[in-house]
Amino acid sequence: MLSGKGKVAAIIGWPVAHSLSPALHTFWLNYYNIDGAYIPMPVKPEELGEVIRILPKLGIRGFNLTLPHKELVIPFLDYMDEDAKAIGAVNTVLIANDGTIQGMNTDAYGFIRNIQPHIDGKKNKAVVLGAGGAAKAICYGLIKEGYNEILLLNRTQEKAEEMASHFGAHVHVLPWEQRARALDWADLLVNATSLGMEGKEPLDINLDMLPKHAVVTDIVYTPLQTPLLKDAKGRGYLVVDGLGMLIHQAVPGFRAWFGMKPEVMPELRPHLLKALG
Ligand code: ATR
Repeated sequence: MLSGKGKVAAIIGWPVAHSLSPALHTFWLNYYNIDGAYIPMPVKPEELGEVIRILPKLGIRGFNLTLPHKELVIPFLDYMDEDAKAIGAVNTVLIANDGTIQGMNTDAYGFIRNIQPHIDGKKNKAVVLGAGGAAKAICYGLIKEGYNEILLLNRTQEKAEEMASHFGAHVHVLPWEQRARALDWADLLVNATSLGMEGKEPLDINLDMLPKHAVVTDIVYTPLQTPLLKDAKGRGYLVVDGLGMLIHQAVPGFRAWFGMKPEVMPELRPHLLKALG
């Protein structure tokens, strides 16, 4: 249902055609019979500022940002929440009734909500592979969640060191070559690299040292069962795929734009898998 009073939100990306967010938000809009719409907006990076200045004048409630806009958007915001400031990136924006443009980051929240039911209070040590934007949100989320020690490993070690310098004593960097050994005593292994994605090589890591109680999770969700998750599952580890992070990170935005907190119901996953093709 969409009337003249309908609330409209969007996703801005370049490209944006691959995004699952329209399928996700439209599912909730239909489920709750909300008068609203969520639309994809392909916007070139050099035109982002121009577009954002126009959106409040169109009555748009807010938007999500995907690559390459999550950092580029910052100069055009009036306000950023604590998580967005700490992560240095914004994925969700609310245009308030007074026209102010308010940036949030819900990636850390989405990551933690996705793994929370599975981690069972064991938060001593996490191993995070990768040092891009996703890894930064994940490290921030893990610190906030109370992990005592986070080992960060990235092919380009300097990027991991630069990231760790923002997070203080909880995060330690090791050389990429030591990834198998780093798993000793870990409660959680996170792949935050793009390895394992369709068309990319798999993540090459030997899981022999990983304790049996550990949880293994991947931010890659195309395919849903990455080679890492397949290997881990075959060895008896509890695995959590990356689709749940995408679903959970969308909850605060939907709530801010459309006025109700949507449930992460079981029907969502098959719906999104169908949208993924
Ligand atoms: P995002 O911001 O979404 O996390 P990104 O910045 O492109 O994406 O990060 C991709 C991650 O995958 C990086 O940590 C990258 O390592 P580098 O910093 O060394 O580039 C990692 N990555 C990509 N291809 C890789 C490969 N073949 N081997 C190891 N790591 C790889």
